[in-house]
Amino acid sequence: MTGRNPELQSSLFLRSLAGEVTSIPPVWLMRQAGRYLPEYRETRKKAKTFLDLCYTPELAIEVTLQPIRRFGFDASIMFSDILVVPDALGQKVWFVEGEGPKLEPLKDETDLAKLSVDRVLAHLDPVFQTIRGLKQSLPASTPLIGFCGAPHTVATYMIGGGSGTQSEIIRRSYEAPGFVRKVIDQATEASIRYLKRQIDEGVDAIQLFESWASAVPPALVEDHIIAPLRRIVTALKAYAPQMPILAFPRTMASEVVRATAQLPVSAISIETGLSLSEARKQVGQKQALQGNLDPLLMVTGGDAIDRAVDAARATMQGHPYILNLGHGITPDASIASVERLLKSVRG
Ligand code: CP3
Repeated sequence: MTGRNPELQSSLFLRSLAGEVTSIPPVWLMRQAGRYLPEYRETRKKAKTFLDLCYTPELAIEVTLQPIRRFGFDASIMFSDILVVPDALGQKVWFVEGEGPKLEPLKDETDLAKLSVDRVLAHLDPVFQTIRGLKQSLPASTPLIGFCGAPHTVATYMIGGGSGTQSEIIRRSYEAPGFVRKVIDQATEASIRYLKRQIDEGVDAIQLFESWASAVPPALVEDHIIAPLRRIVTALKAYAPQMPILAFPRTMASEVVRATAQLPVSAISIETGLSLSEARKQVGQKQALQGNLDPLLMVTGGDAIDRAVDAARATMQGHPYILNLGHGITPDASIASVERLLKSVRG
């Protein structure tokens, strides 16, 4: 765990998470292992399905290491997906090439009763093997980020069944609030167990992806987003007080960013649509901000990257900052753009 290795403690990423303002910000990218890399596309062919890739430690380790080898990012993120949790609970999950994830949607409490949190850790054993392998093979100074989806986001997929269905959970919570609450609770409980185990296996930080925060109306923010996150963060803080937690409420609503920042988390990741200057007003002085650069910059390239990096750093002067995008890097991004980004940050 964090604390054993002084090289890790002096990494830019963990120093920023500890509230330090570093002269050069650490850089990593959400989805840094992915289809924009030719070596990822090669390895991807060795697995029959996307979930097989997630559950084959040798391959998951390899694709996690690829962007570290190529770019030397300041943090690595274990290769997996947020939807391994519903899969582990016993829900049918599959990925359709070019369309994204599909789940057999939960219609009611009868469907929910078929799932079980007790099977989660055994099912996710390959992920834990991946973490152990990464701790052996990552450079000693590169922290490893573990993660899971935040409960509202995971429940969005469990109830909606896949891409483009994010309003279904909202509709159902007006019609059947008890059912939706139980799904969110199930995701929360599974996530707590999963994350504690990730900590046992040696991750150096945890990121919680609330990718569908933007779909939640103000009246449901506390029940759907904040209360479940509070449960997770409180459980993890009791279990491993020093473990840094990053939360990514993907929304332009600054009240949601503020409410998330009131939890004992070390960093808040900011989506592209909310300005860093506004985000800075919503978080504590010691809480790092992460992200916000437009993923499109990694597609278009050029000196727009330098301008965006300079602007982000100017806004974040005097505040801990982790340079990242406002969402995942896309398959059409270019390697030259990522190289330019790193050059722009590191000189
Ligand atoms: O490098 C990393 O960031 C680690 C791996 C990672 C993946 N998914 C791999 C992946 C992480 C951290 C995730 C998180 C994830 N997965 C989120 C939260 C972050 C976000 O993007 O908002 C969500 C909502 C998912 C669910 C998911 N998985 C979707 C919507 C999709 C399809 C979209 C797409 O890009 O195709 C996936 C598939 C997926 N997960 C891919 C990768 C590399 C692409 C599939 C492939 O390579 O065959």
